[in-house]
Amino acid sequence: MNTTDILRRPLVRAAVLSVALAAIPIAAAAQEATARGSAGGDAAKGKALYQACAACHSIDENDVGPKHRGVVGRHAGSVPDYNYSSALKRSGLTWDEATLDRWLINPSALVPGTKMFFKIDDAQARADLIAYLKQQK
Ligand code: HEC
Repeated sequence: MNTTDILRRPLVRAAVLSVALAAIPIAAAAQEATARGSAGGDAAKGKALYQACAACHSIDENDVGPKHRGVVGRHAGSVPDYNYSSALKRSGLTWDEATLDRWLINPSALVPGTKMFFKIDDAQARADLIAYLKQQK
């Protein structure tokens, strides 16, 4: 029996249809998640998540890592009194949602030779963190 014959059976057709219909809300939810991830992270959640960054960073003081106030929109490696790796200083990056997302996925992949070794695997957590950083103008 070929595929067409199988699809002619009413029960099989009903099953195929219900699987197809069930997939629609999943696709819509995935799209919504992507939209939220790129533009609308939750800054309040990002503030809580920032505790992980605070092992090395603060908003207003240089520490193991550079201070973060104003980071969104500034050139990478440009806080004057912080001792960056030459890799990050020479990266030519500007921090925006897209570059910060790639940075947090894996700093060493974006900027080989950087001295930040810390990753955030969860896309929504990255979006939330970036939303929080955007508020720290
Ligand atoms: C274990 C320490 C450590 C942790 C944890 C850490 N960082 Fe970093 N971060 C660094 C260091 C060190 C640098 C400087 C990298 C360089 O000069 O190559 C840096 C640099 C950065 C930069 C570049 C800033 C600039 O002025 O160009 C950003 C953005 C950043 N970190 C964000 C984060 C965020 C957000 C988190 C939490 C999710 C985080 N970091 C967690 C150590 C850390």
